Amino acid sequence: MTNESHSEAFFDARRDELEQRVGPRRFAHSLGVSKTAEELARTYGVDEDEARIAGLLHDWDKGYDDPGILARAAELGMEIDAELQAMPRVLHGMTAAVALERDFSCLSPAVLQAIDRHTLGAPDMSDLDMVVYIADALEPGRKGKRAAKLREAIGNVTLQELFIEVYAYWVELIMERRHPMYSKTVDIWNAYMPPQEPFTAAQGADYMPYGRP
Ligand SMILES: [Fe+2]
Ligand SMILES: [Fe+2]
Repeated sequence: MTNESHSEAFFDARRDELEQRVGPRRFAHSLGVSKTAEELARTYGVDEDEARIAGLLHDWDKGYDDPGILARAAELGMEIDAELQAMPRVLHGMTAAVALERDFSCLSPAVLQAIDRHTLGAPDMSDLDMVVYIADALEPGRKGKRAAKLREAIGNVTLQELFIEVYAYWVELIMERRHPMYSKTVDIWNAYMPPQEPFTAAQGADYMPYGRP
C-alpha cells in the first residue's frame, strides 16, 4: 500500500513550507533530524519512510513565540493545563501533531504521535517515537562531546538503551541550565528503569544494591 506522506512530492512540498515557517537554523536542524531519523530507523528496523517524514515535521510549530504558541493551541481547540501553560516552549510538538493531523490526513497516527512526543517523551514510547526523539538530539548540527559520544553508541546498544541515554542527557541539561522540569519526567524515567534488586540483611551491612548515594 502506498502512502502519500511517503512520497517525494509530499516530502518536498512540506520541506519548502517548513522553510517559510522557521528560521534557517531550525530548517537545517529539521533536515538533519529527518536524515538522522531515517538512518536510525534503518539501523533499528523501524519504518524509514515514517521516520524521515516525522523527523522533517517534528519542529513544524517551532517558529511561534510563547504568546504565539499559546494562541495556536487555543485556535486548535487544545486544552493546555496550568503547568504546560507556564512552559510554552514545550508545546510545539503537541500543537504540530494536532495541526498536521488537521491539514494532512495522509500522515499516520504513528508519525503524529512521534511528533507529539518529541519534546517531553512518554512512559510508553514506540520505536518510532524513540527514533525521532534520539534524532532530535543527535543530528549532525548538535555539537559537543556528549552528543558525539552518544552518536558512537548508535548500533552498539539497543534502541531503548540509546533512548534512555539521550533522555538522561536532556534531563541533566534541564538541571544544569536551571530550567523548570516537567512534573511527569520522573514517571517517564522510572518507566524505563529495571526493578531494583531487594536488599536483605543476609547480604551484609555494607551491601549497596542501589549504588552509593
Ligand atoms: Fe522541538
Ligand atoms: Fe528539534
